[in-house]
Order: sequence, then C-alpha cells, then structure tokens
Amino acid sequence: MKRVAINQETEQKLFFHNYARFPVAVTHGEGVWLVSDDGTRYLDMIAGIGVNALGYGDKRLVEAISSQAAKLIHASNLFMMPPQFELAEKLLALSGLSKVFFANSGTEAIEAAIKIARKWAGLSGNQEKKEVLSLSNCFHGRTYGAMSLTAKPKYVDGFEPLLAGTGMIAFNDIADLEAQVSEKTAAVFIEVVQGEGGIHRISQPFIDRLKELREQYSFLIVADEIQAGCGRTGTFFSYTQVDADPDLVCLAKPLGGGLPLSAVIGSEKVADVLTYGNHGTTFGGNPVACAAGIAMINAIEADNLIEHALEIGAFMNNEGQKLAAKHPQILEIRQYGLMIGITVDKEAKQYVGKALEKHVVINATSVNVIRLLPPLVISREEAQHCITTLDEIFTEETAAAEKSRG
Ligand SMILES: Cc1ncc(COP(=O)(O)O)c(C=O)c1O
Repeated sequence: MKRVAINQETEQKLFFHNYARFPVAVTHGEGVWLVSDDGTRYLDMIAGIGVNALGYGDKRLVEAISSQAAKLIHASNLFMMPPQFELAEKLLALSGLSKVFFANSGTEAIEAAIKIARKWAGLSGNQEKKEVLSLSNCFHGRTYGAMSLTAKPKYVDGFEPLLAGTGMIAFNDIADLEAQVSEKTAAVFIEVVQGEGGIHRISQPFIDRLKELREQYSFLIVADEIQAGCGRTGTFFSYTQVDADPDLVCLAKPLGGGLPLSAVIGSEKVADVLTYGNHGTTFGGNPVACAAGIAMINAIEADNLIEHALEIGAFMNNEGQKLAAKHPQILEIRQYGLMIGITVDKEAKQYVGKALEKHVVINATSVNVIRLLPPLVISREEAQHCITTLDEIFTEETAAAEKSRG
C-alpha cells in the first residue's frame, strides 16, 4: 500500500483549512520534549494547548490507559463503569460539589452547563429567565452555545445567527455587570484566568460583586476551568483563588491525560435539574479516558505538581521580568502558576515561527500575547532553556532592526 506523504501539500489536499498547522510532523514525545519524524527534539511550552500536564510518556498514565483498554474500551452509559465512578468521586472530593456529568471536549462541557443553567432557571417559574452571559474577551468553545458566549468576530463571523438570549459583560467592569444582570439572568460564565483572551485574571471586586448580585437575582455562576483548571494556575481549581463559589464548573483539556474527556461538576442547587434522557453523549465518560484522568490526578498529587507549577512559574516570571527590562519589545508579563502571557509590541505570531526554528514550541493568542502553557512537570533547566531562547530571539530582532537602519 502506498504511504501517504506527511507534508504541507498533502495537508492542504486532505483537510478543511481550519487549522494552521506547524510544518512539523511529530511522532512521539519524552517528558517535555516532542520529537519529529526527522528526530528533531522540540521543547514543548504549550503542551498540546494546555492538555499534557504530565508531559509525554508518563509510565503511570500509559499503564492506566493500556490496562483499561485491555479490559474495556467502550460500553456506553447504558452501563455503570468503575473508572467513571472513581473519577467522579475524586472530582467531587476536590470541589466539594454534588454531581458530575462527563462529556468529551471543553465545548461540550460548556453546552451541558448552558442547558443545565437554562433548565434550572426555567424551574423557577420565570420563563423569561433564560439569559446566559459571559465576559468580554472570553473563550468558551466553538459549538453554537459556546461560540455564542465567545462571540469574538474571529470565531463568529459567517456562522450567525447565534444562540438567542446570550450577552456579554465587559471584563472586570462592575458598572457593566450591574447594568446587565437582572431577574432574566440564568447564568454568568467566567474564566478566572482568561486563556485565549491573553492570560488576564478576573478581579476580586468583580467576583465579590458578582456573588452579591447572584444573591439578589438568583442566577448561576459557571466557572470555565477548561484551561486554567487541574492545577495549572497553582491550585487544582483556579476559582478557589478568588473564592468564586461557582454553582457549575467545567473541566476538560488535561482531565483525560490527553484523551478526550470533559466534566461538568454541579452544586446541590442544580443536582436534580437533569432527568433521564435530558442530556447525554455516546462517548461521554469513556472508561479509558476516565482511567487516564484518575492516573493524571493521582500523579499530580503524588508528585506535588501544583506546588511545582507555582515554583517554576515564579521562576519563569522572575527570569521573564529580566528579559522585559532588557528588551523593549516586551510590554508586560502576566503569570499565574504555569499559565503565562507575554504581551509584545507587535503581532506575537512571528515569534512562534522564530521559536520553532530554534526548536521551542510557543503559542500566540489575542494578537500580541505569547502564551506559555508548559507541562506541569517542566524542570527549572527546561524553563530556563525557553527563557534563553526568547532572549536570543529578541536580541536577534533588535540586531536585525539596527542593521537595516544602517
Ligand atoms: C477556557 C476554555 N473554554 C473552552 C474551551 C473549548 O475547549 P475544546 O477545545 O476542548 O472544545 C477552551 C479551549 O481552548 C478553553 O480554553
């Protein structure tokens, strides 16, 4: 059989053009390093977009996946499956909440949360209470409900009409929050640290006022922990850092240890909202993905990876501030555990290509922000390697600009 050529030309022929893939074919990974088909090793500072908390090849994760795969890959939610139960129990213990629903992706968790919120609000008897609000600059996903909450032109243009009854509050703007929430509000979706939005943290006064208004109008607070959750920002859930006290929590990305898995966790308030057949998905809570999730959380706990994320994140911030003092291209660095944003004075995309040439994988978001979401297992030396590479890139850029000025 003829083997398909893995290159950009074939990529263009085979796929819809919705992903701007790097011109690199990866075949495997080791720790924090991705290895391409020609044997080049890349320091991975983005971890499969915030997924690979344990990096690549963690033996505990591989063993959990392979032994569960040998036992049972899929049976559907017609049955009770032990790994689902164990993972659900862990998530409830970690959150102190009451109920879990498993799905397969971040956007699906958001869809489920929208449905739970709307049905919960309708049960109050006020049939106008259906409004679902989010914060400007947020990202919640790309299916219709989640996209309607996201509502950035880049994600939305051409796909209208959006879900009715959605709206947006200006991020951290208390006056706008007060103006927008009302008796009609069913839920407000928040990211405690906005990821795609450029690594911005919600302010404490905004959260405090949001909670007061929840008392007044009776709506749900939904914490989207899809990117910031599972330890990345220095606590298992980022919402505990601002005491957001959410009614619903959405998790995904690292939850399945690299396999597709997401979860919605709900408080007692919403525990009985869904009834049989109300919501579901064939693959949700797949036993292999749940076994991986259990291994992932166990490894985070056994290796103290949350403390480690805090320590390495602080180190990167410290070294990054030195870079900022040296290179005028850097405007600001924002760091929450191992969720790091570096605002630069131009489009951040170009730095992604330059870093790749130096075999370091970084990411650009929100136009002028370099985003770093490395595996939580990254060592100090590897973090330093990233900083040194960025230093070289900014230095070379300045030298080239000086040369062209003569
Ligand atoms: C905060 C947040 N919410 C939702 C999503 C959507 O998740 P998924 O891509 O798994 O659908 C993402 C993905 O980047 C995210 O960062």
